[in-house]
Amino acid sequence: MNREQKLEELKRRDALAEAGGGAERRERQHKEGKLSARERIELLLDEGTFEELDKYVTHHCTDFGMAEQRIPGDGFLTGYGRIAGRLAYVFAQDFTVFGGSLSEANAMKICKIMDLAMRNGAPVIGLNDSGGARIQEGVMSLAGYAEIFLRNTLASGVIPQISAVLGPCAGGAVYSPAITDFIFMTRGTAYMFVTGPEVIKTVTHEDVTKEELGGAMTHNATSGVAHFVAGNDGDCLAMIRELFSYLPSNNLEEPPRRATSDPWDRADAALGLLVPADPMIPYDIKDAIHAVVDDGDFFEVHEHFARNMVVGFARLDSRSVGIVANQPAVLAGCLDINASVKGARFVRFCDAFNIPLITFVDVPGFLPGTQQEFGGIIRHGAKLLYAYAEATVPKLTVITRKAYGGAYCVMSSKHIRTDVNFAWPTAEIAVMGPEGAVNVVYKRELDKTPGEEREFLRKAKVKEFRERFANPYIAAERGYIDAVIEPRLTRPKLITALRSLENKRDINPKKKHGNIPL
Ligand code: HXC
Repeated sequence: MNREQKLEELKRRDALAEAGGGAERRERQHKEGKLSARERIELLLDEGTFEELDKYVTHHCTDFGMAEQRIPGDGFLTGYGRIAGRLAYVFAQDFTVFGGSLSEANAMKICKIMDLAMRNGAPVIGLNDSGGARIQEGVMSLAGYAEIFLRNTLASGVIPQISAVLGPCAGGAVYSPAITDFIFMTRGTAYMFVTGPEVIKTVTHEDVTKEELGGAMTHNATSGVAHFVAGNDGDCLAMIRELFSYLPSNNLEEPPRRATSDPWDRADAALGLLVPADPMIPYDIKDAIHAVVDDGDFFEVHEHFARNMVVGFARLDSRSVGIVANQPAVLAGCLDINASVKGARFVRFCDAFNIPLITFVDVPGFLPGTQQEFGGIIRHGAKLLYAYAEATVPKLTVITRKAYGGAYCVMSSKHIRTDVNFAWPTAEIAVMGPEGAVNVVYKRELDKTPGEEREFLRKAKVKEFRERFANPYIAAERGYIDAVIEPRLTRPKLITALRSLENKRDINPKKKHGNIPL
């Protein structure tokens, strides 16, 4: 071959790889409302920055007539590029080639970029759309999955790992996204399950559709497996870019800062009116979050799951922060199993990646009931406590209203190493609410008092109890609350505290790893 012919050969191979499974299959992909793997990568990364690796890798399988069916790249695109100028490694499964199934060869492609990402301290983003293990390859494909799972685990807490599920993701294949930090799913096109509807029908005789079993809303609202839902591929990739903007590239970096014109000392009078005078009336804690953070921008995580707890990213004074808040508008803001697990996972992510934690507290306690106790609220609630207690990032707390019982301790209290604890004048910090407390403490006396008189006595005792305990000052007198602040000044107070913690260094005792109550 002469020089031109050699160049032609390169172009021919490139074209073959770029054609993937061919125009017909690509057309089918589009008809189903999905983009091709290459189109997805183009939307995810800054224009023209994708550098593909292993474009010419093919599978090594010769069984089932596979020797004649070799497509360069083998149905996986891998490489690196930039998101808002920052390095990211990426892989995308191409459903048009053997249904995006995983061969030994393309498992090694993924492992290669994961190893590079670890060495270079950059996030990995996986775009999943696959029929799972390449059936023709048998155990070699399973081995490939296991190699990826190992790398997902070792990379956890070192580099952010983000998964988008944009089509099928079934069987053991679900466990790679499951180990990553965040899962995005597209409505109507994505589904995840360990065993599909047919197997379920055979084993348990249940009838369930793919969408009901493992669609985007099932995993966003019911199981909590997924953190974000998007209307389509394009929206999903834009959301990933937004999430990326809050995260550092690795655990040794600070998160990127984004300049803001929002004044650091902006007061907001509306915050003073947010908490209703009647402690039984709910309000939306997100109003407080939006009012306090830079430009009102709050990127909520797990929006549809355990809505009695709100978590997400925002910026304060141009710095990324993780917000954790009880939501009095849902289940009165009680902590239950799902809320505890949701909060714990988010707190641990922020702590692993140097993102300060801001906690808004309005919690009447843990949700009572046999369902919760039998489900292990003790173990799951302990996860949130553990996560807060071990976190060494800057931690700030604002108690807006109730902080009762064990939930007071759990929600980033002073006693578990929170740096600055604020309370609004409307805060009520006690072992339990006045009604419950009176029923316990004055039980004998109330039992002895007849009829109407008993109700009169109960009301008087509740009033007395509320006046004595339902305020922030007993805690403030002990130094458990550093300052009782005017609600309108919450933003400047938080920013001033955050600035004071700029060089915070705190460490945990040296150990192999802790034993979080899983
Ligand atoms: C090889 C596969 C494949 C697979 C799909 N294809 N899955 N090839 N291995 N796992 C091929 C099909 O033969 C077809 O090829 C093309 O991909 C598109 O598939 P369709 O069935 O036409 O697509 P669709 O109707 O959209 O259905 C998608 C699907 C279905 C639901 C994913 O393909 C399916 O059920 N596939 C098998 C899923 C599965 O059982 N995988 C193994 C799971 S166990 P042509 O040439 O016709 O286009 C597993 C274990 C992982 O993954 C363990 C990790 C520890």
